[in-house]
Formats: sequence, C-alpha cells, structure tokens
Amino acid sequence: MIILAIDTSCDDTCISILNVKCQSSNVKNAKFEILSNVVSSQVKIHQKYGGVYPSLAKREHQKNLPVVLKKALNKAKKPKIDAVAVTIGPGLEPCLWTGINFAKDLAQQRNLPIIPVNHMEAHIFANFVGKCQMSKLKCQIFPAVCLVVSGGHTQLILMNDIGKYKIIGETRDDAAGECFDKTARVLGLPYPGGPAIAAAAAKCRNVEIGPYGESPEATAKYRTKLPRPMINSKDYDFSFSGLKTAVLYEFKKRSKKVRASKEYVREMAKKIQQAIIDVLIKKTIKAAKDCKAKSIVLGGGVTANNELRKQLKEKIKKEIPNIQYLTPNIQFCTDNAVMIGITAYFRRKEASKNWQKIKAEANLRIS
Ligand code: KG4
Ligand code: ZN
Repeated sequence: MIILAIDTSCDDTCISILNVKCQSSNVKNAKFEILSNVVSSQVKIHQKYGGVYPSLAKREHQKNLPVVLKKALNKAKKPKIDAVAVTIGPGLEPCLWTGINFAKDLAQQRNLPIIPVNHMEAHIFANFVGKCQMSKLKCQIFPAVCLVVSGGHTQLILMNDIGKYKIIGETRDDAAGECFDKTARVLGLPYPGGPAIAAAAAKCRNVEIGPYGESPEATAKYRTKLPRPMINSKDYDFSFSGLKTAVLYEFKKRSKKVRASKEYVREMAKKIQQAIIDVLIKKTIKAAKDCKAKSIVLGGGVTANNELRKQLKEKIKKEIPNIQYLTPNIQFCTDNAVMIGITAYFRRKEASKNWQKIKAEANLRIS
C-alpha cells in the first residue's frame, strides 16, 4: 500500500510517501519503506516574531505545498498512490485547513480515499519508523507510558494497545516546548527555543547541575535556583508557566552587561533545561511505576533533547531496569509526515471516499 501523507499542523510543511508491506493480517508485522520525506521549514520566517504567526504560517503552507508535493513525488519516482493521509488536529486551525484542503484536491483529482490522522498519535508512532515491525520488539511493549512533548502539548498517555489511549496527565498551562521557546526569547536566543537552549546549555562550563538542582560543589556563578513546578504533586500533571515567569524576573534583575554576557545566558540555559527535564522525568517514572508499564515511549519535538533522552535512560536503568525505552530517531521527533503515514496505515480502516466532511479539529484529543 502506498500512502502519501501530509502534515501542516504548525510551521513545517511536510509531505512523505511510504510504501507499506504487510505479509500477514497482523498490522504489527508491517514494514514501512520511506520513498520520500520532505520537510519545508518556515523557521526563518517566524524567527523575527519569536514564535509561530498562524496567518503567516497558513500563507506559507499554501505557497509551499505544491512545491513540496512535486519534490516528494519526484523523489519517490512517482509511484501509484493508494491513499492520502492528512493531519486533522491538534494544531493551528488555519494551518490544518491548508493541509486538509490540499489533501481533498489531491483525493478528488486522483480518486483516492483520505485517512484523517491525529498529530499526537503520530508523534508516538514516530518510534516505529524503520524499526517497525513492532512484533520484532524484544517483548510486549503494552501497557506503555508515552511522554509526548511538543510546542503545543505536554501529555502523559497510557497506551494499552494500538488505538487504545488514555491521557493520564497533561500541562495545566504552557507546554514544555512553549517554555523552551518563551524562556529562550527572554534570554535573547532564537526561535525555536528548544534547540537554541540545548546548544547554549551544552557550552556552559560553569555549573554542575544534577537532578533537582545544583550539586553542593556546583561552580555556578549566578546563584539562581529555578522552580520545578508540580514536581511533587501526586498526579501526573505539569505546569510550566511559573518557570517562565521565574526566568523573566531573574533576567530583569540583572544588569545589561550581565544579560548580554554569553556566560550568563549559557548558565541560565542549562538551568532552564534541567528544570524542565527534572519535572518530565520525575512524572514519567512515577506514571510508569504506578501503571506497571512495560515500556516508556517518547514523542514530540522536545524529545529531540539529548539531555532529556540521556537522563531519562539513566533513571530508568536505575529505577525500573526491566522496562523498554523507546525513543524516535532525532529526525522524527519534530514534525514530519513519515509519522503521519505510519499512523494512517494503522488507521487505514478509517479511510474514507466520503472525505468531504473531514474538517480541522484544532483541539483534537487522543482517545
Ligand atoms: O513536535 P514539534 O516539532 O511541533 C509541535 O507539534 O509543536 O515540537 C516543536 C517544539 C518547539 O517548542 C521546540 O522548541 C521544541 O519542540 N524542540 C526542542 C528541541 N528541538 C525542538 N526542545 C528541546 N530540545 C530540543 N533539542
Ligand atoms: Zn508536533
């Protein structure tokens, strides 16, 4: 089955073409061959606003989609497409509509069905790029606790099987990625903030920050302790807006000279990154233990963060060594259409030739 998948949920215009082979009726035996994967990033356009500007993003998607499609088709050597998959939510509504309308045009021209896809489910399925067959995973992975962290979402999802989900925790205000983006902006670092903070933090030589704060022998120059909101709450929810405000106050109390110094920015970046990671790790481990999970599965742009991946791995090894730890290839943590195509395959029964009714659902939830 050849699937052409589209994602325009935020600021990347993504189209991918997948060849899916499955020799048995068990979908877990499916093999995914990526025939093409094109991501056209709008980062440069949004950088001057310090975040995504939805109407501008929509216009860019409209401009980019035909070009990206041509590239994807050429790269895949123009195969015969069996179905179109498209993200219907969650995401920025004007952007989602651009992808959906484009998918409808394609479906009409080529007389194809459309498979509507949930972007959050797709971030989970990004783990199976290349290594799916799922059946070849070492052992049973369900129930899985999935930490899905992106620019718009921070959720802990209990996955009992393909298509069986329960959100057990989520952010009550800002998403983790949003916190990276907004605090980066305070520090004068470019959008998107996550990679910028990670890069600045990696250059910090001043401070040793272990889990949950500075170690006693830390050599931090700017003695600031950032909060880890809700880290000890009994639920699996998150809150990041207090951290953002703490960074803003800390920054404002510094002189212009300090604010402009690389040393200060790098030290703050390291502390912000650690504060976010600490909360994500503590809650994920707690959820995995409480739910007796067989695996922890990461997904979403923030899970491209190397420190998060590394520190969570260490914590799992120490506290729940028998659990499997699945992380997407870094390239597939941030938005892409390969993950949309894979999800579509598992949802192919929802393919519809009656696609006129498909609509954008900006607040779509996984269930
Ligand atoms: O999943 P994604 O590409 O788009 C949404 O669905 O939102 O996630 C984008 C988010 C941004 O907030 C970005 O700053 C963050 O992921 N991000 C990172 C890293 N790379 C991207 N955050 C931390 N560390 C990274 N290396
Ligand atoms: Zn995303």
